[in-house]
Amino acid sequence: MNKTYDVLIIGAGINGCSIAYQTASRNRRTVVLEKNTVGAEASSAAAGMLGAQSEMEEYSPFFEFARRSRSMFPELVPELEEKSGTAVSYVRNGMIKVADTPEEQERLARMYAFQKRAGEEVEWLQPDMVKTIDRSIGGDYFGAIYLQGDGQVKAPELTKAYAGAAVREGAEFYEYTPALGFIFENGRVTGVETPQGRFYADQIVLAGGAWSRFMPPLGEELPPLIPVKGECVGLHSKRPIVEKTVHASDFYIVPKPGGSIIIGATEREGEMGKEVSAEAVQHLLHKACRLVPGLGRASWQYAWSGVRPQSADGKPYLGQTAFDGLWMAAGHYRNGILLSAVTGTWMADLLEGKAQEQEWIDAFSPQRLIHRKEEEIIGTDY
Ligand code: GLY
Repeated sequence: MNKTYDVLIIGAGINGCSIAYQTASRNRRTVVLEKNTVGAEASSAAAGMLGAQSEMEEYSPFFEFARRSRSMFPELVPELEEKSGTAVSYVRNGMIKVADTPEEQERLARMYAFQKRAGEEVEWLQPDMVKTIDRSIGGDYFGAIYLQGDGQVKAPELTKAYAGAAVREGAEFYEYTPALGFIFENGRVTGVETPQGRFYADQIVLAGGAWSRFMPPLGEELPPLIPVKGECVGLHSKRPIVEKTVHASDFYIVPKPGGSIIIGATEREGEMGKEVSAEAVQHLLHKACRLVPGLGRASWQYAWSGVRPQSADGKPYLGQTAFDGLWMAAGHYRNGILLSAVTGTWMADLLEGKAQEQEWIDAFSPQRLIHRKEEEIIGTDY
């Protein structure tokens, strides 16, 4: 069985599904190949924060890209929910970033100043003001910033919603269909080998998250991706305990509509397994219960992990690779859910040759590291 499409996407994580939704909506014959099931890896492990402001303290194209993505959700979510029939629980409950160490206080002060300059809604809270925003917060801290505009979704549901809407627009999904290797013809990548046969397309997009580099025969020739495992725990409470998303220096607490509370996440660089260590659970619960003592009353649900795909410079790889016919949309690291909206439209624009913002083309090009290396060599005095 050989099949031919306009666009073939490898990986049905949130970004692969978002790209599929956009390309199929533009009447491009689209297929998604997934080694497991839709959203089986990092997309289902994520806490679903849409924190465009929460991790950035200086201007960059990446900041603008993240802001663009955040601004798309109010319109995109109802559209996806209507087309897919999947509710994604989008809420804009705001985020409190708590300075739990003096170093974090300094970092948050820089972030606050930057966010203000950038015209974002942000408030500095002295320690005695924090409780006025969310009464559940206790323990010792050195102040906080409050980001009113930040919201959240249920990440596994949003992934399914993109996929469902893509199918509604005509995209085909093949689950349990691993991409075993690329097919080259006349120096161009024209297809993908799978146990179910060959799939051909004019444009192939590698969106396999941390697995994107395991694609024979290219592997090492693609831009570097570092797996960073994150472990999370889930609690549940019928009575609301914490209202806002609470972010501290190395953990966060995300209350979900319906009573679930996600506490995340560790950062284990180089790890890819699914196991969750006792140490991670102990660490996350200890920190979260110290900052929000009421969490001790919540009931235990379960613990899980996911693997974030980290690029060499922390920004995603979005664009054409060094190989004709092969594109990449991977390396979203801690921001995959937030960036999913703009990744879909941006990749669809790039594939059609309609992308406008040169700053973004350069900043996210998968070839940027090769170009930088060449510039460094050219610029060296021998
Ligand atoms: N976006 C949060 C995390 O990666 O843990």
